[in-house]
Amino acid sequence: MGSLKISMIGSGYVGLVTGTCFAEIGHKVICVDNNEEKIAFLSSGGCPIYEPGLPEMIARNIAAGRLSFDTSIEEAMRETDIIFIAVNTPPREDGSADLSYVENVARTIAENLSSLPNNSYRLIVDKSTVPVETGDKVSRTIRYYAPHDREFDVASNPEFLREGSAVEDFLKPDRIVIGVTSPRSEALLRELYEPIHAPLLATDIYSAEIIKHASNSFLATKISFINAVSKLAEATGADVEMIARGMGLDRRISPSFLSAGLGYGGSCFPKDVKAFHRIAQEKGIDFSLLKEVERINDGQRKNFVKKVHEALWVVKGKKLGVWGLSFKPNTDDMRSAPSIDIISELLKEGAEVIAYDPVAMEKAKDLLPKKTVYVNSKEEAINGADALLVLTEWKEFRFSDILEIKKLLKRPIIIDGRNMFKPQDMTRAGFVYYSMGRPPVLNDER
Ligand SMILES: NC(=O)c1ccc[n+]([C@@H]2O[C@H](COP(=O)([O-])OP(=O)(O)OC[C@H]3O[C@@H](n4cnc5c(N)ncnc54)[C@H](O)[C@@H]3O)[C@@H](O)[C@H]2O)c1
Repeated sequence: MGSLKISMIGSGYVGLVTGTCFAEIGHKVICVDNNEEKIAFLSSGGCPIYEPGLPEMIARNIAAGRLSFDTSIEEAMRETDIIFIAVNTPPREDGSADLSYVENVARTIAENLSSLPNNSYRLIVDKSTVPVETGDKVSRTIRYYAPHDREFDVASNPEFLREGSAVEDFLKPDRIVIGVTSPRSEALLRELYEPIHAPLLATDIYSAEIIKHASNSFLATKISFINAVSKLAEATGADVEMIARGMGLDRRISPSFLSAGLGYGGSCFPKDVKAFHRIAQEKGIDFSLLKEVERINDGQRKNFVKKVHEALWVVKGKKLGVWGLSFKPNTDDMRSAPSIDIISELLKEGAEVIAYDPVAMEKAKDLLPKKTVYVNSKEEAINGADALLVLTEWKEFRFSDILEIKKLLKRPIIIDGRNMFKPQDMTRAGFVYYSMGRPPVLNDER
């Protein structure tokens, strides 16, 4: 078990999960956020995000005295070995990462270094996803605003957890990457991660920063690749699921991230692909491959709406039952979810949208058009509807009784953006069924 003192600045999906997990492996952690409401909620035992296993872990570590919450960076920095920066780095209009939150925290850290005893050393670690050379800028900012005699290092420790399985991903990662500039910072970070058994790659800060952007961009490319293949499958009568299986059996390719569908969404891939392209452009590198990845991704949402047209002809006045709003299952994160573009377009065309999601409906209300109707069960969403639209492949949808679905729908039509059902089952049950990259099941509707 570890025993370092850590302050985590930013208590969102990443800061809260990683801070709690560091406490779980024995370190003493203060999670800080400038959102007072969030900190009050966390301090009272609440958990502001949906993440399996997290609420129990927060409660356990608060009770053990290893985890606490604060709104003050100054307070958290007073007695700490490592200060993590885990604030948001949202995209700006031009696609570059907005680093103002990181800069703001760096400045606050610098200003508070002056109130520490003369010989105190602090390791400042960037966990937010940032463009290459941000570590240099954080370092420069701290040097500029802090008293000259304060000793500190800046390191990079990108985070690879996935929402929906974040706790598990953090505790059993494929790898840990640290970008360091001194033996002292490397030793501290090795000690921090000592209880976690995973390959640890220690490298320079620039490479660590690029590893994160390159990894996410590569995965996004894989998704767009199979989605481009799915269009070819649709044009020829091939089956993208079979193609993906055949490709994935090659160990050099691997089956993961080869699912054709509505494309990637969420808070990371869309912004990281943009930011990676942008930083390459700033350095004079042509990485237009990433622009194509984005174009294919956007196209999948349009491709889905086209299928709704094919299935229903006129959308105006039709009642559409939507299953799933979050950008993927097991999370309530709605950022850049395909459901936003798809539902907005269908409402614009005059459809009535009745939506159900097991956990994301509250967050969806801020992002979806006001006309969206929310209901409390998957059955209510499709009762009397002209068609079922599957936008997120939650487990509770996957194991639905298809005859029950047929009974509830006004017409037996399903447009499945996640290839959740088997075309053979749909044929047998008498559905009109459109999915991604597979021949449609038309039955006798035509
Ligand atoms: N969400 C993911 O799955 C994921 C995975 C890997 C990496 N990342 C990266 O981690 C970073 C954080 O992402 P997130 O999803 O946790 O974001 P988030 O928006 O959920 O959380 C960020 C938090 O930082 C807080 N914050 C902002 N400025 C602050 C300040 N000055 N002082 C204190 N708190 C402040 C915000 O109030 C917010 O609670 C991003 O760079 C993201 O790209 C995210």
